[in-house]
Amino acid sequence: MAPKKDLLRLKDLGRDEVDWILRTAGRMKQERSQGVPHHHLAGKSLGMIFNKSSTRTRISFEVGMFQLGGHPVFLTGQQLQMGRGETVADSARIFSRYLDGLVIRTFDHAEVEELATQAAIPVINALTDKFHPCQILADIFTIVEKRGTLEGVKVAYIGDGNNVANSWLLGASIMGIDIGMATPKGYEPDSGVIAEACSIAKSTGAEISLCHDPEEVARGADVLYTDTWISMGQDSQAEQRKRDFMGFCVDNSLVAVANPDVMVMHCLPAHRDEEISGETLDGPNSVVWDEAENRLHVQKAILLSLMRDDATELYE
Ligand code: CP
Ligand code: NVA
Repeated sequence: MAPKKDLLRLKDLGRDEVDWILRTAGRMKQERSQGVPHHHLAGKSLGMIFNKSSTRTRISFEVGMFQLGGHPVFLTGQQLQMGRGETVADSARIFSRYLDGLVIRTFDHAEVEELATQAAIPVINALTDKFHPCQILADIFTIVEKRGTLEGVKVAYIGDGNNVANSWLLGASIMGIDIGMATPKGYEPDSGVIAEACSIAKSTGAEISLCHDPEEVARGADVLYTDTWISMGQDSQAEQRKRDFMGFCVDNSLVAVANPDVMVMHCLPAHRDEEISGETLDGPNSVVWDEAENRLHVQKAILLSLMRDDATELYE
C-alpha cells in the first residue's frame, strides 16, 4: 500500500498532481452533467471537523462525498472530546480507526499539521488561518475552464495578505501563473510563504510581484481576485481594518484598467461594497458562482486522489 498523503498546503502537490486534479475534476463535472454515476469511494467514510463557519466548503465536501458513493460524517470541535481537551494525537488515533479520510477547518495551521502527522488516514485542510488550498485549486480550475489554458494568464490579487493570498502565492508559483498582489502596508502575505513561492517560481517561470497599489496590479490583468478584509477570527479588528483597506475595493474602475475580458473572482462570502462593489460582483465579468460550484468538482478529485491508491488508473 502506498504511504498516505495529505493536502495541508499546495506545496504538498507537484505540478503533475495539480494537473491530474484539474483534469479529473473536469471529467467528473462532465459525468455529473450527463448523469453518469461515479461511486468510486463506496464503503468509505470521511470525517469533517469544522471549528469555523462554512457554507461552500462544508456543503461541497459533504455532497461530493455522497456523490462518490461514500459517507460524510460532519463533526464540530465543540461536540468532539477534542474540544474538551482530548489530545490531538489521541483523537487522530481514534479517527484513523473509524474513518478513511479527514477534512478539517480550524484556526491554527499547526494543529492540522499535528493531526496529519498523528493520523494514519489522509487529512485535507479545509481552511486554516494560514492556508486555503482547496479554494485555490478550484480557482485555478475555473480559470482553465474559462480560458482553456493557464498560459500567459496574469492574476491580480487585491486585498488582505491572508490564508487565501498565501495559497494563491503557492498555487501560482507551482503552476507558473504570473501574479501581482496589492495589499495595504502591514497586511502583506506571510513572509515565509513569499520566500517559498519565489523559490518555486524560479523553476516554473511564474512572475510574482507585491506592491500596495491596486491599480498597478489590475492594469492588463486577466483575473481580478479579492477576499474579505476581515477573516474569520478577526472580528474584533473590523473597524481598524475597514479604515486600513480604504481604496482596496475591487470595483468597475479597476475592471476598466484590466483586460477587456478580465474574470472577476472572489472565494466568497463577499461583503458587498467593502472588498468588492455589488455591481462588479454581479457584473458581466464576474465568474464567482461558477467558481463556487467548481469547489464541488475539484474537491471530489482531491478526495479520490488521496483516498484511492489507484485513482490515476480510474482517471488517467
Ligand atoms: N470560500 C469558502 O471557503 O467558503 P465557505 O467559508 O462558505 O466554506
Ligand atoms: N479569508 C477568509 C476566507 C473565507 C473563505 C477567512 O478566512 O475567513
